[in-house]
Amino acid sequence: MGLFTTDKDFFGLDIGNSAVRLVQLKKGGSRPSLVAYGKANIPVGIAQSDSKIDLQNLAQIIKELTIKTRVSTKNVVVALPGSAVFTAVVKLPYMTQSELAKAIQYQAEQNIPLKLKDVKIDWQVIKQDPATKEMAVMIIAAPSGKVERMLTIMDFAGLEVESLETSPIAMARSLISATDPLVMILDIGATSTEMAIVENGVISHTRSLPAAGQAFTRAISQNLGLDPEQADQFKMRFGLSQDKLEGQVYKTIKPILNNIVDEIERSIAFYAEQFGGNVSKIVLSGGSARLPEMISYLKSELKIEVQLGNPWAFVSYPANFTEQLQSNSFDFGVAVGLAMRDN
Ligand SMILES: Nc1ncnc2c1ncn2[C@@H]1O[C@H](COP(=O)(O)OP(=O)(O)OP(=O)(O)O)[C@@H](O)[C@H]1O
Ligand SMILES: [Mg+2]
Repeated sequence: MGLFTTDKDFFGLDIGNSAVRLVQLKKGGSRPSLVAYGKANIPVGIAQSDSKIDLQNLAQIIKELTIKTRVSTKNVVVALPGSAVFTAVVKLPYMTQSELAKAIQYQAEQNIPLKLKDVKIDWQVIKQDPATKEMAVMIIAAPSGKVERMLTIMDFAGLEVESLETSPIAMARSLISATDPLVMILDIGATSTEMAIVENGVISHTRSLPAAGQAFTRAISQNLGLDPEQADQFKMRFGLSQDKLEGQVYKTIKPILNNIVDEIERSIAFYAEQFGGNVSKIVLSGGSARLPEMISYLKSELKIEVQLGNPWAFVSYPANFTEQLQSNSFDFGVAVGLAMRDN
């Protein structure tokens, strides 16, 4: 969200439910070059807590990570998760910027299920159709409480917020090339799964589901009578393999994943109906994308191409970094996208 914007150095910060990650890039040349990056795990529960002590602990983890990674600035671009914001795409006739600003207020009142005094509104024209002289505009509404909470954490961490965005917008920048015709980003994290349909680099439909890696672990723990650490190990080791452990882990994860698959199909169908065009590929991100056989499972269920996203594809870095960067490409989609932002 473009709440405020200046022209300074900054780094991108992704606060997930399981870890925080930061990336700093230097602009210039044909592609931005890597200055700093790193990740720190966060204790379960802290990421969504509103208690002052938890906000301070989270801020401390972030502060330590900035020191460890030696970022050269205190200016940060940080993301609100897709699950924290409401988005709506509305169709409007062509109009001037000032007319649009008024129309957005009205459309937000109609389409956003919160009182306008309680949200911060941003918008983006995502499509224009010269034939009908109509445009599609995405309205993003962030609850003021979520924005304030984020600004408080950044303040505790001693950071200056350069800009606040949403995670799907950041991933569209780092994981998709402008020549990709129509693709879906699928980020399966710890507590949420985010979907975003992106056409020629421009994001339109987004969707967030409260089911991801922690739900897989919880189900395995309950069904197989394991403690959470063991359940996590089983998940990472056996994943969706049907022939391991008599397919018990597979059978446990499958119904949860099928809810995600259903929602992907619904989103793709909704997009085709609203805007026309078929999603040709899914680009996968997030720690749970590592689940063994995830790609082949999604391919066979959805009958669509599925590939792993690589946020480092548009970044230049020393050759001896290749291995470590590629090994954690699932983790950095949001942080790289934030760092790539043109301020
Ligand atoms: N090899 C693996 N196999 C299966 N799952 C894995 C593997 N490695 C990590 N995970 C899972 O990935 C999840 C963390 O993913 P990620 O780091 O993308 O989440 P996050 O960004 O912190 O959370 P969120 O996006 O939900 O706020 C955890 O549930 C973890 O168990
Ligand atoms: Mg995440």
